[in-house]
Amino acid sequence: SGTLAFANRLRVPPLLEPAVAADGTKQFSLTMQAGQVELLPGKPTTTWGFNGAFLGPTIRATRGDRVAMRVHNQLGEPSTVHWHGMRLPAVMDGGPHQMIRPGATWSPHWTIDQPAATAWYHPHPHGNTAKHVYRGLAGLLLVDDPETAALGLPSTYGVDDVPLILQDKTLDANGVLQEDANPVWGLMGDQILVNGVYDPYFEVTTTLVRLRILNGSNARMYNVEFADRRRFHVIGSDAGLLAAPVAVDRVQLSPGERLEVLVEFEPRDQVVLRSVAGDDGIDEGDYELLKFVAADQLKPGPPVPQRLAASRRIEAPVGARERTFKLNGSDAINGREMDMTRIDEVVPAGAIEIWHVQNPVYSHNFHIHEVAFRILDIDGRPPSAYLQGPKDTAFIPRKSTVRLAVQFGHHTDPKTPYMYHCHILRHEDKGMMGQFVIVEPGT
Ligand code: C2O
Ligand code: CU
Repeated sequence: SGTLAFANRLRVPPLLEPAVAADGTKQFSLTMQAGQVELLPGKPTTTWGFNGAFLGPTIRATRGDRVAMRVHNQLGEPSTVHWHGMRLPAVMDGGPHQMIRPGATWSPHWTIDQPAATAWYHPHPHGNTAKHVYRGLAGLLLVDDPETAALGLPSTYGVDDVPLILQDKTLDANGVLQEDANPVWGLMGDQILVNGVYDPYFEVTTTLVRLRILNGSNARMYNVEFADRRRFHVIGSDAGLLAAPVAVDRVQLSPGERLEVLVEFEPRDQVVLRSVAGDDGIDEGDYELLKFVAADQLKPGPPVPQRLAASRRIEAPVGARERTFKLNGSDAINGREMDMTRIDEVVPAGAIEIWHVQNPVYSHNFHIHEVAFRILDIDGRPPSAYLQGPKDTAFIPRKSTVRLAVQFGHHTDPKTPYMYHCHILRHEDKGMMGQFVIVEPGT
């Protein structure tokens, strides 16, 4: 808590330049490594990152691109890299079955075939995800497509199209990252980093700024608003654009969720972005995140568009298959802890199903690999308008049932599972996770 001085310029993760192969494949290289970074001035902290000491570069590709990743593990222990939000074959997904041994390189490749979205990547080694993410392994993966480009949204990366990766850390007075886990929620911190910078400011140079906000924390929830309570527009959620902008004055993000928003600024504006305590029962408080400092003269940006994506509303057909997932305590689903040798669900390719996620006790959230879903209702009531777009991760309030219309893809593989799980990483590590395979319909 407390009041920040906003002394440090916000860092924007660099874009990762691909090598382009003769057949046009974009090749991206990532090395998982340890390093040191000054999170507190003069107090170097030992952290992990991709191609650097902390966090990772931003990968950017366009629908239709063939991409090839080369992920080299220099951590000294096994890990994986999961492409959270990507629709791809299960063997390329980077979940706990695609382990990268120390010193080894993993080379998944696929063709990007999904609408523009803000996805991200992070480790997923079963039982160790919390530690690997907390130490700093996370980055953004931005997907573009021609329809979205034609909307004329702010899109100059780092200028008027700015990622904000929100994470909480606990550092001792010497800058050492503390890894004492809260018994229920796991690793939480009282210092909020934005893009790996504590106490940051961002210089605004345009009248309209698009923010891509990622909750990259292990457990902390954020209820994000501007200190002057100005309204802003949500234009996208995890899996892509909304049908039209939704005006809000506060948004909630549980771990793993992303939102794209448009914010208007006046010349010389100074406004703090903050997170206020909610009623979700997760240990949290009021935190200042970032100060926006607008220049004396701002370059005029485009107006906020009236319409965004042509309707991609996910509708379950009459008679859709329904499945129920009960979140037990903090470590099981439907009474079972994660077992990497057990397939929990078998789903036909291309299906749209209704998944009921029941949550009797603590707050949790629910992420499904490979899919896009729409939140149908929370205890029978529709979610806030900004949460009605395409998503892959949803907050599941305690003592509630959330219904999701889940659209599955077409990459069949009866042997290699995808995951669904709580994205509070301690819960995922302890076993609140299950496995599904996608198979040819009728098999
Ligand atoms: Cu972001 Cu299965 O994870
Ligand atoms: Cu949970």
